[in-house]
Amino acid sequence: MQNIDSISHVRGQSVYLDDIPVKEGTLYAVVLGSPVAHGRLISLDTADAAALPGVARIFTAADIPGDNQIGGIFPDEPLLAEGELHFQGQPVCLIVAQDELTARRARKLIRLEYETLPPVIDVEEAWRKQQFLSPPRTFRLGDVEQAWAQCAHITEGRAATGGQEHVYIETQGAYACPEEGGRIKIYSSTQGPTAAQRTAARVLGLPMQYIGVEVTRLGGGFGGKEDQATPWACMVALAAHLLQRPVKISLHRADDMRMTGKRNPYRSRFRIGLSDDLQILAFEAEYLQEGGAAADLSPAILERTLFHATNSYFIPNVQATAYSCRTNVPPNTAFRGFGGPQGMFVLEAAIAKAAWELGVPAHRIQQKNLLRENDEFPYGQRAEHARARDCWTAADAAYRLEEKAQAVETFNKTNELHKKGLAVMPVCFGISFTNTMMNQAGALVHIYQDGSIGLSSAAVEMGQGVNTKLVQAAAHALAVNPARIRVEPTDTTRVANTSPTAASAGADLNGQAVLNACEQLLERLRHTAAGLLQVPPDAITLHDEQVLYDGKNTEYDWNKLIVEAFRRRVNLSAQGYYATPGIYFDKQKEKGRPFAYHTYGTAIVTVTVDCIRGIYAIDAVDIVHDFGNSINPLVDRGQVEGALIQGIGWMTLEELLYNPEGRLLSNSLSAYKAPDLHASPKRVNCIPLETEGPPTAILRSKAVGEPPLMYGIGAFFAIQNAVRAFNPAYRPEMQAAPFTPERVLMALYQ
Ligand code: MTE
Ligand code: HPA
Ligand code: MOS
Repeated sequence: MQNIDSISHVRGQSVYLDDIPVKEGTLYAVVLGSPVAHGRLISLDTADAAALPGVARIFTAADIPGDNQIGGIFPDEPLLAEGELHFQGQPVCLIVAQDELTARRARKLIRLEYETLPPVIDVEEAWRKQQFLSPPRTFRLGDVEQAWAQCAHITEGRAATGGQEHVYIETQGAYACPEEGGRIKIYSSTQGPTAAQRTAARVLGLPMQYIGVEVTRLGGGFGGKEDQATPWACMVALAAHLLQRPVKISLHRADDMRMTGKRNPYRSRFRIGLSDDLQILAFEAEYLQEGGAAADLSPAILERTLFHATNSYFIPNVQATAYSCRTNVPPNTAFRGFGGPQGMFVLEAAIAKAAWELGVPAHRIQQKNLLRENDEFPYGQRAEHARARDCWTAADAAYRLEEKAQAVETFNKTNELHKKGLAVMPVCFGISFTNTMMNQAGALVHIYQDGSIGLSSAAVEMGQGVNTKLVQAAAHALAVNPARIRVEPTDTTRVANTSPTAASAGADLNGQAVLNACEQLLERLRHTAAGLLQVPPDAITLHDEQVLYDGKNTEYDWNKLIVEAFRRRVNLSAQGYYATPGIYFDKQKEKGRPFAYHTYGTAIVTVTVDCIRGIYAIDAVDIVHDFGNSINPLVDRGQVEGALIQGIGWMTLEELLYNPEGRLLSNSLSAYKAPDLHASPKRVNCIPLETEGPPTAILRSKAVGEPPLMYGIGAFFAIQNAVRAFNPAYRPEMQAAPFTPERVLMALYQ
């Protein structure tokens, strides 16, 4: 089945926030951001701006009727700055006018008086000053201290990964409309409708029932709208509430890039110990996470870094400690992988360094240490249905790893100015929100009297195809043609108390809730049919829009059954609910079973580096990916390709630069290089590992949204291997991504 949105996307008929026809009297908002990364606000003069014709009103922190607080995990972030300024671009005033141009003109007329304070931009400086956003965390397995004595070889080093701008095609935005009785309806480009609802209620000082949030779809989120869509929703809600007029905001790209958080950059130290036969006996790491000016989701991201510190390997002795550091840049946030990629990079850097020192290919160390069934992760969960070795073996068989490695060596012997490099990237990613409470979802399914079906869930469609999967799940459960089913916009009044669509668990959680609703309906319909046919309900089944008795056709089809059910006053609506069973985590002990299951895969990445210019091409990425029993191979393959290229961009091109005053220099799409066709691999092969898939995955189809991003990490190490083929003396003091052409060039001639 193709993605249900594909035709309307191609025709430009899909509706995004900016396509919603606005109501008469709608006003437009822009935000004035802090000009300094750290400072103290002395005074705000808005008189000239407010006097500009067409300006409706200018809002500051003083206008907020409820709490000036939007922090999701900790209450440490104001909606509008008060007193202290913490990052350049931090919202200070909201300017509302009859049109956006007027609002922008008024913005220039606001005079801010402030005292500048020294900003902390460097994460190590923040760490030295003990500026933490949350308490440090340590995960332990075995005893690293006693293990070092047993190691034949010990390597130490440093690793760094950069931030990443989400580059969702649709920028942040929201539209709030006042309704009867003081209610506010918000259309928001958010992954988390309930977060927007809860926070807007808090800011306005209203009960949540006064705020309704509706989302049709996003033009991409990638984690950037899990938490950071909330402030814009709150701002327009505030203005709509106080002005009693509809108010819309839609950020320009430059404002979006300057004001919103990105992937957390990390700086880390590692120590890895191996036996003579390349078994990893011990691994120790210390991660410094650059959190930015407020906690946002960083504490949860930090936790996932620790969960994925050992990636797809079993290491008997581990000690991993992570610090979330407060710096004066926009609060960093969720980005596909949610701290997992940052953690995995460090171990891969450690393996790469150990491999040079031992003079063996890194993939020999990797293969030797892959997880086996029942191996223990440092967080106490054991690998069930471990597919790490199956994926590796299948990749080796399909793509002939040793032959590829040989071909690279031969090429490098015969070519002086071009060098090839190869790296393998195994991935093991835990599926579930690491915060157990968040693993719940709801759905509402209506069968209308004419037999058509309306489906609502907590899931937000952002291009990942979750709505298509929900249609498939409902069609499967009710044995009807998918064309009968329409997915309604996600709305907090139809499905309440929702988790954001994130953690790759959107289809699993919401799909199970949809199945639960459909099963209730099916049960009622089977009883209806049994009554009509005067037979026991147990012998009734539905198949292909037909009612079967004892497996044989009856006179009733779907439409006829629904008409009869309605006549007999059978409830044709059902609310579904799902909470992932069997998961828990004890933060005191840092042990538990946080994940419903793990998604596995292996990628082989080959690159060619031009050793005069430092530029490079990704020749091929050859993947074996464990989809379980994929519900939609086309959608899933799209997720693999998109995530892979996003991962390659993070590892190779995308470089966020701040000046010492905390100003973002890479503040536009001309100064920030997002991956394009040229950055993409020339070939991508993706073979599904044939597995049954776990029962907690939707119809045994495993979560796929985030895991393939981490295949992109292989591009870094493939380039590093090519550089070393040219310059065997290359010994980086720190393995630092992104490996931009400038950095490659310097490495070639170090
Ligand atoms: N794919 C597209 N096209 N657009 C997106 O914004 N977000 C990714 C991934 N794939 C994203 C995407 C992220 S960060 C996550 S967590 C998952 O989709 C969320 O959706 P799912 O849980 O339904 O897989
Ligand atoms: N993944 C993604 N988003 C999240 C998580 C997680 O584990 N926890 C809270 N938000
Ligand atoms: Mo995805 S980073 O969990 O939104």
